[in-house]
This record gives sequence, C-alpha cells and structure tokens, in this order.
Amino acid sequence: MNILLTGGAGYIGSHTSLCLIEKGHTVTVVDNLITGNVNLVPKKANFFNSDISDKNKIKNLLKENKFDLIMHFAGLVKVEESLKNPEKYNLYNFEKAKAFFDYCLEFGLNKIIFSSTAGVYGKIKDFKKVKENDKLEPSNPYASSKYKLEKYLLNLSKEKKIKSIILRYFNVAGADKENRSGLDVKDSNNLIKAVCETALKKRDRIVINGDDYETKDGTPVRDFIHVSDLAEIHLIVGEYMNLNGETEIYNCGYGSGYSVKEVITEMEKILKHNLKKEIGPRRKDDIPYSVANNIKFKEKFNWVPKYNNLNYILKSALEWERKIK
Ligand SMILES: NC(=O)c1ccc[n+]([C@@H]2O[C@H](COP(=O)([O-])OP(=O)(O)OC[C@H]3O[C@@H](n4cnc5c(N)ncnc54)[C@H](O)[C@@H]3O)[C@@H](O)[C@H]2O)c1
Repeated sequence: MNILLTGGAGYIGSHTSLCLIEKGHTVTVVDNLITGNVNLVPKKANFFNSDISDKNKIKNLLKENKFDLIMHFAGLVKVEESLKNPEKYNLYNFEKAKAFFDYCLEFGLNKIIFSSTAGVYGKIKDFKKVKENDKLEPSNPYASSKYKLEKYLLNLSKEKKIKSIILRYFNVAGADKENRSGLDVKDSNNLIKAVCETALKKRDRIVINGDDYETKDGTPVRDFIHVSDLAEIHLIVGEYMNLNGETEIYNCGYGSGYSVKEVITEMEKILKHNLKKEIGPRRKDDIPYSVANNIKFKEKFNWVPKYNNLNYILKSALEWERKIK
C-alpha cells in the first residue's frame, strides 16, 4: 500500500509508520511539527513538512503521488488545553481535517482511517465496558472535536463519497521494542509518563488525582493499550480497507483495566523500591472507569494482541524515558 499518514512525527503516527514500513508498505508523513518531532519519523518514510490544511502544498503532494489511503493522526491531544482554548481544538481537530479531506477527495483519495478517542463516550455509567454503539456524550472540547469529525466522516460515508474506519483509542501507552520511538511530550498528564519520569527522578513525585472513586482501590481504572499493538491495528484495517472493506467504528483497547494505584505498584515492582506519591484533587470531568468492549474488532479480524502486559508496557515506556533528555 502507498499510505498518506498525517501526524507521523507524533507518538502513535510514528509507531504506525514503523509498523507499516516493516511490512513493506510505503509511507508519506505529513506533519507541521506543531507538537511532533521530526526525529521520530522513520528514515524510510517520506517526510513532507506541511500543515494538513495548506491547500497549495497538499494539492501539489496529491498531484505528484497516487496514494491508496489516508491514516489521519494529526491533531491536538491535550484535554486540559482544550478546556482553556476550545476554538483551537475545533480548528485543528475538525476544520483543518475537513479541509484536508476535501482536497484528498478532489484527487479521488477517499479511504480514510481516523484516530478517534474513547473520550467520545463521555461519562461511562455502571462500570461497564463501552461498546461502539453506546451513547456518545463527549465531555470536553477535545472529545467534542473528535466526535464532530467522526460525524462528518460517517455522513460522507453514507453519501458514498468515502469509506472510513474510525478507531476509538483507549489509553495508549508504552514504546517501540527497539526504542526507536515513544512518548515525547512536555507537561504531559499521561499517568505512565509521570510514573516513568518519577522513577528516573525527572519528576519529584506522582500526584494521584483522587482516591475516592467507587473503584476497587478508589483510583480511576483505565484500559491501557500498547502503542505497537495499536500500530498493528492500523496495519490490519489498512489492508482491509485497501481490499474495499466497509465503513466501520472499532474500539481499540484490551478489554481490561488497571487502576492508577495498580500502575504505580507495578512500576515499584520493576524498580524494587517505592515511588514518592501524594493524593491530589480529582481532575475536572475525570471518569472512574474507562474500559473497551473490544469484541467487535477481535471477532472481525481474529485479533490477538502481542503486548497485553502491564509490566511490559511500563518497562518499554521506562526504557524510552531513559533515552530522551
Ligand atoms: N495518545 C493517546 O492516548 C490518544 C488517545 C486517543 C486518541 N488519540 C488520537 O491519536 C492521534 C495521535 O495522537 P498522538 O498521541 O500521537 O499525538 P501527538 O501530539 O504525538 O501527534 C500528533 C501529530 O500531529 C501533528 N499535527 C497536529 N496538527 C497538525 C496539522 N494541522 N498539520 C500537520 N500536522 C499536525 C503534530 O505535529 C504531531 O506530530 C490524535 O489525533 C489523537 O487525538 C491519541
């Protein structure tokens, strides 16, 4: 396949590029480096430094290449920032993407795989694993911007203008087995990043945001999926879509969850010592339990994840954290 991959200088896009290239596919990354790092783009990928909404640049790229499909990762990802600046999130995650897809459609490029988020489900009730057809109630501007783009793609699909696969990621974690890529963001609220930084003394302590939720140990429970398993999901749906697969929505998670305290304890086991931690206030709109019902994807593609192991997820993240300054 010849793949046009937006956001490939970022965390998940770079891992997916590595996975696709390893399987012999051709990858062209479009990234404006607003949060990405060009060093994460695999050497064998073509790199095109551009905003996805730059009409002239993107049209020229489309004129000169014949892509089979789009994997769209580009966007902004910080929930807290989106609460402060919702317009920016609407612009980057919806308006710019919409413009980009319109240019692609003009060139007959109409197969789209889109990175959405479990955040579109909003407040999950009753501690049940969410299914793709459960009610959607995004509770922050980041999730709303993703939801808006989902709806846009589904409408275009209904009008038979495109085929799209929407992937709703749960909590993406870990790093490449050869340490070629990993999470490289500043001021991240990502729990596993914070745990690794604390382990390496880049951070003084871990703040547990709330320990009075109605969960087994009072701390929120999340479904952590290793980034390389998620990358492989893109390979699977890419090949499916290339063979004329149909428009669909899939949850991407392991279908089981760990609490914040369990994650910290597992890292303490790896380190063989305790980490400094304190209990802080709950985060606004944080939900107690977010775990995927992943049966739809598993059954459709006979998917067996390779890295469904918290210990491995943490060790790979720690190795990456050691590598970066
Ligand atoms: N990380 C997660 O846990 C998670 C969970 C759910 C969904 N997602 C989604 O997955 C996608 C990738 O997330 P990530 O964690 O790799 O984020 P990231 O910030 O590491 O990567 C995003 C990349 O997109 C690029 N980009 C942003 N706006 C652009 C634009 N207008 N034009 C060109 N490039 C642009 C950035 O420079 C960056 O390289 C995002 O769409 C995000 O919403 C991520």
